[in-house]
Amino acid sequence: MSMSSKQSHISKIQAFECLDSRGYPTVAATVELVGGAIGTAMVPSGASTGEYEAHELRDGDPQRYFGKGVLKAVDNINSKLATALAGYDALDQGTLDRKLIELDGSQTKSNLGANALLGVSLATAHAAAAYRKMPLFQYLGGINAHKLPVPLVNVINGGAHAANSLDFQEFMIVPHTSSTFFENIRAASEVFHCLKKILLKKGLAVGLGDEGGFAPDLKNPGEALDLLVTAISDAGYDPGEDISIALDVAASEFYDEKSGKYVFKKSSKEAFSSAEMVSLYQSWLQKYPLVSIEDGLDENDWDGWKLLTEKIGSEVQLVGDDLFVTNRTRLAQGIEAGAANAILVKLNQIGTLSETLETVNLAHSNYYRSIISHRSGETEDTTIADLAVALGSGQIKTGSVCRGERTAKYNRLLWIETYLAGASIVENPFI
Ligand code: PGA
Ligand code: ZN
Repeated sequence: MSMSSKQSHISKIQAFECLDSRGYPTVAATVELVGGAIGTAMVPSGASTGEYEAHELRDGDPQRYFGKGVLKAVDNINSKLATALAGYDALDQGTLDRKLIELDGSQTKSNLGANALLGVSLATAHAAAAYRKMPLFQYLGGINAHKLPVPLVNVINGGAHAANSLDFQEFMIVPHTSSTFFENIRAASEVFHCLKKILLKKGLAVGLGDEGGFAPDLKNPGEALDLLVTAISDAGYDPGEDISIALDVAASEFYDEKSGKYVFKKSSKEAFSSAEMVSLYQSWLQKYPLVSIEDGLDENDWDGWKLLTEKIGSEVQLVGDDLFVTNRTRLAQGIEAGAANAILVKLNQIGTLSETLETVNLAHSNYYRSIISHRSGETEDTTIADLAVALGSGQIKTGSVCRGERTAKYNRLLWIETYLAGASIVENPFI
């Protein structure tokens, strides 16, 4: 007999098509165990997706959701996966995830769809935690899971996430003023509201982008950085001391392969070489309390990444998102090359929980930091909040302090902090 009783074995898997925060469909899955425990997960979806991400299966039927339906992925769960995984032990996540990978059989999870696989993988973990009568973060992280993350809070949106004049995708504030998540999220909220006042005063738009940050028409990234510094001060905080700044450039979105240049196509139309981009970042390190730069260069610009890391890697966190796509092999390549010093972690870039955990382990054992992340298309699913605490990542990126699909994660972290009743810690990752 196995360690667990049969009660933890899967009895039923059901999926359905639900809505994400952009109003497009995505996959939801429920896993039920023999003993009655139930777990549900909803899969997020990106807009500025990396070239090397696992495959998100869409129907391509123009009659439904402009081709974006996910009924094929849902059907793959309800038929193939439900049958093949019945009787599997939900407590054995590794075996289950390996079976999912085997059933798909492709490199990029294009047969059954990474969205189908991830829905089942995560719903199984939720069911297992329910079976164990534990919060997910403790089920995944064990008794030592008590570190709450510092949030990278996106307050200005550009790039593929907003119809404005900003080429850079995300301008974030990083509150590390307190040793509690509760106080740090308050600081973020206060800065967010001060920023709104400044924008209104300047006659700039205060409509929101996909991740809940403002999406004003600004001249250039420098103007956005200046606004953040002013908003931090206006809210009564010390820029750099209490609250720092992070960027997600998402540079692959404006890299021009033909010329090998980074072209600011939404704003000035200026073109920068890799080395010029590196110099630009270097100059900002003198001027702004900048602690983290994500995807500062294109996902295929390995030479540029090496240069970037050589020049400023000892001073600032350099995060690979599109560069690594939560993929162990890509990360190993980066570690070997000396590219970046941190990884953005998105479950749906790779497609199963176990592979995500393997990638994070590889990062941590090579002194690369990890930042657990949402996607621009989200749902009210809060798995990533638990994952951040379980892994002790110390950082989470989950958008602005408004919009329910973003606050769901922050509110879950507040719940976890309350649940841990004084036993939790927050560490400033940037000292
Ligand atoms: P995406 O954006 O979900 O649209 O890829 C988030 C990010 O680039 O970090
Ligand atoms: Zn990114």
